[in-house]
Amino acid sequence: MNVRATALAEVHRFDEQASAFARDVIDDLSRHPKRLSPKYFYDAAGSELFEQITLLPEYYPTRTELAILRDYGRAISAIIPKGAALVEFGAGSTTKMRLLLGECGLGAYVPVDISGEFLKTQAEALRADFPSLQVYPVTADFSAPFELPEPVRAMPKVGFFPGSTLGNFEPHEACAFLHSAREILGRGARMVIGVDLEKDERVLYDAYNDSAGVTARFNLNVLHRINRELGGDFDVGAFIHRAIYNRDKHRIEMHLISKKALTARVLGRKFSFRPGESIHTENSYKYSLERFTALARGSGWKPFESWTDAAGMFSVHAMVASD
Ligand code: AVJ
Repeated sequence: MNVRATALAEVHRFDEQASAFARDVIDDLSRHPKRLSPKYFYDAAGSELFEQITLLPEYYPTRTELAILRDYGRAISAIIPKGAALVEFGAGSTTKMRLLLGECGLGAYVPVDISGEFLKTQAEALRADFPSLQVYPVTADFSAPFELPEPVRAMPKVGFFPGSTLGNFEPHEACAFLHSAREILGRGARMVIGVDLEKDERVLYDAYNDSAGVTARFNLNVLHRINRELGGDFDVGAFIHRAIYNRDKHRIEMHLISKKALTARVLGRKFSFRPGESIHTENSYKYSLERFTALARGSGWKPFESWTDAAGMFSVHAMVASD
């Protein structure tokens, strides 16, 4: 493609993403109960707030997964064939893949993310640090099928899905995602996936109700984003953050609760709230080792090894495509 065609393709993709956001927000706020998809947390401000969350004393997942990748990096990298393409689903930052990179002769790195801007910056930094590594960023919503870049199609493929992002999917969506990852990566592919584990409710509660209030700001930012990008007029100060552990469903739920009766306008539509009414903004599912391996087995993969920290807070699994 020439420069102009590339620029047009970029604009087109931007329009598509902007209108998917608009459509989803209108649909999801029209439902009873109201909801919003957690994938829209991550605009520039939301991504920055999430980075801050990962450093909070109460938020154990990121530092625990990093410790597992550091401590068992050699064993985990051993499942990555020489010359393989590592396809990372939802590549927010390259910190985690860098822990595997040193240990194996990676052929290419394919970060797939909905936010094209962030991807480009990360890809450039990686190319500067590892001049011989081929980096092919793909701007896509990885919860739907997408094409792998041509140059990596002949390479052995390894999927990488850290951060327990799988926890944002409903169980049937998690199954669909794993099937689709199996299709995208192809025969003989492998996958390394990070999965947060069920644990003491107090620890879970505190991780999503930090004392500095960063998670609250992260949750509320989605309303600011709607105001900014969709011309909304949400009175953000009239909402409070609530996170609870739903034990029956094995999930943390995040909500935004309206403190009073109010109306918000988004793209010409009116949405009314009763006092105490909730917008359900996120589910973060927690797994047992058994429940995760059963899910993976039913979704086109054979899990063959897993690693956890000493306290059993978080797990990293290696699996191979089952046919
Ligand atoms: C990025 C989906 C793994 O569920 O813990 C952090 C997002 N939400 N604090 C999680 C999140 C509130 C996070 N994931």
